[in-house]
Amino acid sequence: MSKYLITGGAGFVGANLCRVLLSRGDTVVILDDLSRVGSDDRLHGLQAEGGDQLIAVLADIVDPEAVDGCFETHGPFDGVVHLAAQVAVTWSMQDPRRDFAVNAWGSFNVIDAVRRFSPEARCLYMSSNKVYGALDDLRWIPDHNRCVFLDAPLGVTIKRPLDPETPYGVSKATGECSFRDAWRTYGIQTAILRCSCIYGPRQSQQEDQGWVAWFAAAITSGQTLRIFGDGKTTRDMLFVDDLVDLQLRILDGPEPRGCTLNVGGGPKAARSLLEVVAAIEELSGSAPKIEFHDERPGDQKVFITASDAAFELYGWRPTTLPEDGLRQLLGL
Ligand SMILES: NC(=O)c1ccc[n+]([C@@H]2O[C@H](COP(=O)([O-])OP(=O)(O)OC[C@H]3O[C@@H](n4cnc5c(N)ncnc54)[C@H](O)[C@@H]3O)[C@@H](O)[C@H]2O)c1
Repeated sequence: MSKYLITGGAGFVGANLCRVLLSRGDTVVILDDLSRVGSDDRLHGLQAEGGDQLIAVLADIVDPEAVDGCFETHGPFDGVVHLAAQVAVTWSMQDPRRDFAVNAWGSFNVIDAVRRFSPEARCLYMSSNKVYGALDDLRWIPDHNRCVFLDAPLGVTIKRPLDPETPYGVSKATGECSFRDAWRTYGIQTAILRCSCIYGPRQSQQEDQGWVAWFAAAITSGQTLRIFGDGKTTRDMLFVDDLVDLQLRILDGPEPRGCTLNVGGGPKAARSLLEVVAAIEELSGSAPKIEFHDERPGDQKVFITASDAAFELYGWRPTTLPEDGLRQLLGL
């Protein structure tokens, strides 16, 4: 039985990970400020499931004393999964200072507390494909209802240099640098997972982030969807259970040794916005209402992940195709 700290554990990814850890008998400490819509409900659900195995610390990672206090009171931990973040690109453009405070300074506070109070912990940092920027040099073409890369048909690999765009891209890249350096300078066992489009049950249904859950909620409740661009924007979709599977392999398996991994659904799970809308319509029987708007800055037209490094190090491959994952998201 192990003890884990999950920052942002009341969020979408965190709630899915915590449920599995609790079911194995592990102790889970959640550090979350419940700022995200739906996080309080997710936390109540986890508390009901976890009983004494679950400890909730309501605090802001921007406050170093609060983060230190959590480690001093409840540590040391066998693993720290750092998920707490300002997660919306749109919001990062409106308030870049707060975005940087949470994602860059807050991440530093977490890994610096690991260094001082829990240096043996395995540490996972969740990063984003936005650290690669707009990928303007990668040519793509429309192919029926989606877009495909001409220059990277198997996806973007980890060899691609960082070139973050938007305040969110910059703040997430800064946070991952602190985690990577913690391995180089202090020998802390860190892993960085760069993800693009994660979806699944317990995801907040909001337009600003988590578009798949938002599309599902809007279509099934008769609300109007706004699509920015022509709808052929394409992402490889990663079902949250597949992500949790990799997180557990890293927590339980070979030492991560500061690795950085691109983690996504891969070419087989690449779908455009229009294709996701059509799949939800077919599965739910509800007709979508759509408004088309101009593309937003920083939106990559295509992002497909080459997750080879995760396979080489941890034998991990995503297994859930979007239509199966959407069925679970819709509760069918
Ligand atoms: N969901 C995706 O598609 C996706 C893609 C790439 C990367 N990520 C990253 O994965 C991680 C988890 O994402 P998610 O989808 O579960 O997000 P989420 O918004 O559902 O969860 C984030 C949690 O962090 C908490 N939080 C926010 N600011 C905080 C602060 N200052 N102090 C303490 N807690 C705070 C929120 O209340 C929430 O419970 C984030 O780091 C995100 O950047 C997510």
